Amino acid sequence: MLVKLSTDSVTSARADLLAIGVHGSLASPLVKAIDGATKKALGKLAKLERFEGKDGQTLRMTAAGLGASQVLLVGLGEGEPSVASARKLGAIAARAARSYGTVAIAAPSDDAAVVRALASGALLGGYRYTRYLTGDRVPVRTLGTIKLIVGKRTPALRDAAAAGVVLGESVNHARDLVNAPPNDLTPTALADFAAAQCKALGVPCKVWDKKGIEKLGMPLLLAVSRGSSQEPRFVHMTYTPKGVAPKAKVVFVGKGLTFDAGGLCIKPPKSMLDMKCDMAGAATTIGIVMAAARLELPVEVHGIIGATENMLGADAYRPGDVFPSRDGKSVEIINTDAEGRLVLADALAYARDLGADHLIDHATLTGACMVALGPHRAGLFTDDAKLADRYLSVAEAEGEAFWRLPLDRDQFEALKSDVADLKHAADRTGGAITAALFLREFAGEGSYMHLDIAGPSFQDGVHGVHPKGGTGFGVLTGVRFLESLGG
Ligand code: BES
Ligand code: MN
Ligand code: ZN
Repeated sequence: MLVKLSTDSVTSARADLLAIGVHGSLASPLVKAIDGATKKALGKLAKLERFEGKDGQTLRMTAAGLGASQVLLVGLGEGEPSVASARKLGAIAARAARSYGTVAIAAPSDDAAVVRALASGALLGGYRYTRYLTGDRVPVRTLGTIKLIVGKRTPALRDAAAAGVVLGESVNHARDLVNAPPNDLTPTALADFAAAQCKALGVPCKVWDKKGIEKLGMPLLLAVSRGSSQEPRFVHMTYTPKGVAPKAKVVFVGKGLTFDAGGLCIKPPKSMLDMKCDMAGAATTIGIVMAAARLELPVEVHGIIGATENMLGADAYRPGDVFPSRDGKSVEIINTDAEGRLVLADALAYARDLGADHLIDHATLTGACMVALGPHRAGLFTDDAKLADRYLSVAEAEGEAFWRLPLDRDQFEALKSDVADLKHAADRTGGAITAALFLREFAGEGSYMHLDIAGPSFQDGVHGVHPKGGTGFGVLTGVRFLESLGG
């Protein structure tokens, strides 16, 4: 998908589909221009269909008298154009034109943030996962060109569109990783992908194999991987800005379970089916580091991934087992399906030694978080109130939904073990909170935040700018957060 800026008028722009955002009223000059050029056909159809530009409404019309073959009006609700509404407009337009050659989208304004969001939205909407399709399942045509119609083609808007493309591609890479089948996306393949991306961008990347992980000292990561015939991998990517002193240092850690069968505490088939998505935290982490490097953000960014499968091989770890950890604390295994927090515990203990300003993990950690917040919202856990406020506010601007959940100290009692320093899981009540409390034990004393993305990283159907399947949730907010530190 190629994104271009164009200063054509909406009536003359050539495209298979022309999309225009409507903010709660059809009185905008763009809509009026189209209505005039189509001899009022658009206005008539809008009346007939009761299209008023409400959020979620769309109106599509084949058009004579225009440069474009079809017009799509996209309702965005009342209010001024924003980053979130522009991204939605881009996504809905590109999705509608997915099997056409060219889509033209009228930018709601010449604001750089709006144009950037429009470009990224278009890439998100045009996304399809087709890697494993053959024969007549292969799409005949895919969206080739995305024309963004702006008032003036300035260098600032060109940069904005290019940045939007970087964001869109970073999210789409994360989606590709999540959608990849687990027989192909093994822990080794995941690490190889990260290393290849880093190499292409000149970002140093260290990868440890099983022996290396043994030497590094990660007993909990190794415990989880025991049941699998696939080797685990540990990945550390480091982006450092060139020519400037970094404004901040942030470490992102991602859960990279390329498949979670639950281990001996095996999952029922229905819950297991989607468990290729259990490396979404790793995918988001890779997406953030790649975007930071490509946008040359003035912030030092580390990306750390613990990658393994959670299987049931003869040597699989058991409930009742006790393992040491990288941190030193001993851990009693309660339920082998609570594997993510074990992998993260060792990864966090490694990451905290980097001494960053902020340590942030993304993990598809608990079903309990989805029970609490529903399928579209991620849980946010931190003791750092300033960090929480900043993250929640950039997330809202980006249109990604998070909710701060408490780290209630009294629930920590539930993690006391008779035989070890800690139990790694408690009973069902407050399951997302006890998981977060467990992680906090390994994250050190600095500013730390855990993001439980179990819900929004993988969707049952199209939702907002996201397709069915992997969403790449968290990349947009993570990048915007880094940008907010660089100002
Ligand atoms: N990967 C799952 C969590 C998950 C569930 C992610 C649904 C995405 C969708 C995690 O490893 C897990 O199995 N968690 C258990 C923990 C429990 C055994 C304490 C859970 O949530 O049931
Ligand atoms: Mn599990
Ligand atoms: Zn898991």
